[in-house]
Amino acid sequence: MRESLQTILKYIYLVSILIISACSDKNASTATNAIEAKADSLIALMTLDEKIGQTIMYNGTWEFTGPVSGDNQWKAEKIKNGQVGAMLNVLTADEIRRTQAMAVENSRLGIPMLFAYDVIHGYKTMLPVPLGQAASWDPEVARLGSEVAAREASAAGLHWTFAPMIDISRDARWGRIMESPGEDPYLASIMAKAWVEGYQGDDLSTPNTIAACAKHFAGYGFAEAGRDYNTVEVSLHTLYNVILPPFKAASDAGVATFMNGFNDLNGVPATGNEFLQRDILKGKWDYEGLMVSDWGSIPEMIFHGYAKDTAQAAVMAIQAGSDMDMEGRVYEKGLKEKINNEEVDITLLDDAVKRILILKFKMGLFDDPYRYSDVEREKNELLSQENLEASRDAARKSMVLLKNESNLLPLSKEARSIAVIGQLAADKDIPLGSWRAQAVPNSAVSLVEGIKNAVSKNTKVEFAQGYTLTVGNRSFGRELTIVDEDKSGFKEAIDLAIRSEVVVLAIGEDCYQTGEGRSQMDIGLKGSQLDLFNELRKVNDNIVVVLMTGRPVAIPKIADEANAILETWFAGSESGNAIADVLFGDYNPSGKLPVSFPHHSGQEPLYYSQKSTGRPINRAENVFWTHYTDGPNEGLFPFGFGLSYTSFDYANLKVSKEGESLTVTVDVANSGEVDGEEVVQLYIQDVAASFTRPVKELKGFIKTVIKAGESQSIQFQLSKDDLSFINDQGETVFEPGEFRISVGSNSRDLNTQSITIN
Ligand code: NOJ
Repeated sequence: MRESLQTILKYIYLVSILIISACSDKNASTATNAIEAKADSLIALMTLDEKIGQTIMYNGTWEFTGPVSGDNQWKAEKIKNGQVGAMLNVLTADEIRRTQAMAVENSRLGIPMLFAYDVIHGYKTMLPVPLGQAASWDPEVARLGSEVAAREASAAGLHWTFAPMIDISRDARWGRIMESPGEDPYLASIMAKAWVEGYQGDDLSTPNTIAACAKHFAGYGFAEAGRDYNTVEVSLHTLYNVILPPFKAASDAGVATFMNGFNDLNGVPATGNEFLQRDILKGKWDYEGLMVSDWGSIPEMIFHGYAKDTAQAAVMAIQAGSDMDMEGRVYEKGLKEKINNEEVDITLLDDAVKRILILKFKMGLFDDPYRYSDVEREKNELLSQENLEASRDAARKSMVLLKNESNLLPLSKEARSIAVIGQLAADKDIPLGSWRAQAVPNSAVSLVEGIKNAVSKNTKVEFAQGYTLTVGNRSFGRELTIVDEDKSGFKEAIDLAIRSEVVVLAIGEDCYQTGEGRSQMDIGLKGSQLDLFNELRKVNDNIVVVLMTGRPVAIPKIADEANAILETWFAGSESGNAIADVLFGDYNPSGKLPVSFPHHSGQEPLYYSQKSTGRPINRAENVFWTHYTDGPNEGLFPFGFGLSYTSFDYANLKVSKEGESLTVTVDVANSGEVDGEEVVQLYIQDVAASFTRPVKELKGFIKTVIKAGESQSIQFQLSKDDLSFINDQGETVFEPGEFRISVGSNSRDLNTQSITIN
């Protein structure tokens, strides 16, 4: 009896799919309608358990299909029963195929699962960390980077990445700033769109693309005091004008999924936040994709003191719009009873299931559940030459030249002797960054290797470790052991510096100082790095500092005394080669900071687009104005800052208006001797408004190559929307009056003109 019922159900389902397919595909909207109809007809066949099953995502870092241990056996059984909708952390084309088969070949309706993974800046080939990619101010770097990541991840069987992370981060103490596009909503929105396009291409069913995920919705980057998972209290004004814009850009770009977050926002956990998920995302923005919870964030609402038990957490989350429960194990426990006794409306569950099924249809998984599991493609795609070259190019475009006194850089490849000093210079693991997916440990090209590859055979390149930053086991999940003080390598390094023409000193952070759960109180340099710098400084006048970090670091002394500084972030698989490209002038640096660098940790959160306050400047010589008594207000290096091996001069700023929109032109001349690329930046200030507005807001940038000795006229158009802001009702408002329009090469050094719009 059960068998025959199943056969009938499968038959109805298949027939309905065939009929709908036959009349579909005339155009995009009929295709969407057809997919919706398919999802509806499938939902009509599903039991309550099966529906709830679609909303469950389990972790699977073990060998599923091998000898499944008692601990995991129950998950395998659930999959076979059609009670799991997605898995994360199941890896390789082969393993995913076998796990998928459990669902497709055993469950009543044979619904395929989604396989997800944190592919944050590459799968096997590591690209620069996202903060670094944002420093390129080049959306093509971001797009191509995620395209490479998608090609590799999809070849390894994956369908879905939990990226891009587009949390605006203004507090460099927060370890996850490394995963973000930095402090500015405009730059972040441009990058968000590019990342989504790179991962997803223009058709989700293409087997070398994967579904992207805009996370964490919303406010996670504003964790109080920069401490990960901490409470978030922000005004609606900041929410609408700073935090949400990149998410809106991702939604407009068609991002397939969203993830909520661990944080609470103004007293309501993001996961149970109806205002964010239903009113704004699925309401106002009309977002049709699916919302996955963060790992266990549904039951964490109990720890937040928001839900009294798992059943209530499940109800709150589904009502708020969380469609899928990532390893929270709460929907499977709580929802059934609540739906049966009508405390939860079944239409909420149906809507969640529909969003999940639609994604599976769009990815073509119903046509072929194994389409992404192609062992041959996996072999050829991972770490391919093409991907490594793309990584090297992205890396050099991400680097930011912070200082270059007396044009010490670029170095000559014919230099007599180069001392390469510092643990980070020889390290082959740290440049891979945190959140490194399946990167092979210790596989990056080190700085020493990169330099040796670049120089002529007459150049003597010698290495000395100098300081030791970390010891012992280093991993994604465990605390790091940082060596507070160790000078045992100083003598060797100093001797080497004495006999060398130039010193390349690599300092910064271990990559596991950033990432999830890696907040720091102090973002100065750890261990003996600064002491070593001070010693080397005494014996050599040509010190190039290569900074490897996942966040802004407070380095006032180094900024003062080093002869040159290159911020390389964690540059990925080709790190050493890409850094050498810049150090020796094969690539003229063009990156700009996506986040302000402070003099001191105590300045955090630090961002350029501050409010003026009522006490902005010291008119009288007293203390009654907004400032610190022991340091400056401004950062060490401002947002948007970055040097080149040439220089750019700005002149003839003109602002003209037509109605409520503006045309801004400026001449930018390359006044140096080599060709270079400049990021021309445009900022506005709405001088008096019904909400206090920031003193500067980025509203446009153009990255352009200018040949030595040439000048370009750069033009921006500013629409009424660009001059508007969002009020507390979520409405975009334009208020006529005076606007200051500034253009320049960073957020500090600007030419400004005022214009009044009536
Ligand atoms: C927790 C992190 O917050 C999130 O960003 C990530 O995607 C999930 N874990 C899954 O690994």
